[in-house]
Amino acid sequence: MTKIFIADLQGKEEIESVFLVKIMNTMEGKDGRKYFNIILSDSSGDLESRLWNYSEEVEKQITKNSFVKVRGKVNFFQGRKQFIISSIQKVDAAQVNEDDFMMKAAKNPEAMYKDLLAIVDKLSDVYIRDLLRSIITDGEIARRLKTWQAGKSIHHAYKSGLLEHILSCSYLAVNLSHHYKVNENYVVAGCILHDLCKIYELTDGLNVEYTEEGKLVGHLVKGLEIVDRYSYKIKGFPHHMRMHLKHILLAHHGEYEYGSPKIPQTSEAFLVHLIDMMDSKMGTMEMIKKTDNATGHWSGYVKHLDRIVYKAELPFYPEYVSEDIEEEKHEHREKPVAPPAKSKNAPEPKTSMAKMLSGLKVED
Ligand SMILES: [Fe+2]
Ligand SMILES: [Fe+2]
Repeated sequence: MTKIFIADLQGKEEIESVFLVKIMNTMEGKDGRKYFNIILSDSSGDLESRLWNYSEEVEKQITKNSFVKVRGKVNFFQGRKQFIISSIQKVDAAQVNEDDFMMKAAKNPEAMYKDLLAIVDKLSDVYIRDLLRSIITDGEIARRLKTWQAGKSIHHAYKSGLLEHILSCSYLAVNLSHHYKVNENYVVAGCILHDLCKIYELTDGLNVEYTEEGKLVGHLVKGLEIVDRYSYKIKGFPHHMRMHLKHILLAHHGEYEYGSPKIPQTSEAFLVHLIDMMDSKMGTMEMIKKTDNATGHWSGYVKHLDRIVYKAELPFYPEYVSEDIEEEKHEHREKPVAPPAKSKNAPEPKTSMAKMLSGLKVED
């Protein structure tokens, strides 16, 4: 059977294809009838789905992480794609090509790894250069770095996403350290090491979870362990340098409320925090633009960014156009899609943007 990808699904057509079950919940309608709310996924994105015919057999057989062959068609509900499943059947994992179901970084991990080593090799501080080299060329660390994702679900949450995030931050580190005249060696080290220990915090594979070490220790503290382990192998590694590197790692989440036991107190630590925040938020913006399944220019409400996102390209004019054409275009403006209705238990929105959004009404 030819694989049909979620990103290619158009409205109203009846299709049959294999997807991965990312989330599966049994729900109850207003009339007391049970149904299934299923998030199907593949390498092109996620798709919210409904199976209105509840069956105990389906509930027993199909769980999160099952591969399923489904038949059904796309509907539009409040401006979002929703797949209505008419039949569902479990498929043996051995019969599918895992790559079809795993999102991955746009660039080849081997090429990204080489680019990262090239940045390290250009550093001027001999101790930091040796430390970074010894860490990222460690066989097991290198293997994990090339495949792990940066988060369970928020930013760079796809295969090799961690390396993509680390490399992107390192490019920013080189450029911005020169711009602000701060020590590039520490900023690059911070960008490489700050999230590296996600390789111990998260599992890999199709459905990423927190490991026990991730839950109990976490990537900030684990990062310090790595700095200690590798720096003590380097003869004469300066104590003060080790202390400043540790400060950068401990402070990279920026605020106590975001899990940083220290807030950034050096220019280098502050810059690493800002670069990390910039790259994670921009990564999320790009991801939403690619995978959000609301129709039109606007995404649904994005919790991580606390806003809805304008998904289309911005207007661009390499040449002057006549005013009449411009007027015409403006008549086809789209209305933004409102965030989902607030449940009784939903927390109060913190920002003025969230407050404004919570007041929006759904229009069809
Ligand atoms: Fe982090
Ligand atoms: Fe990060």
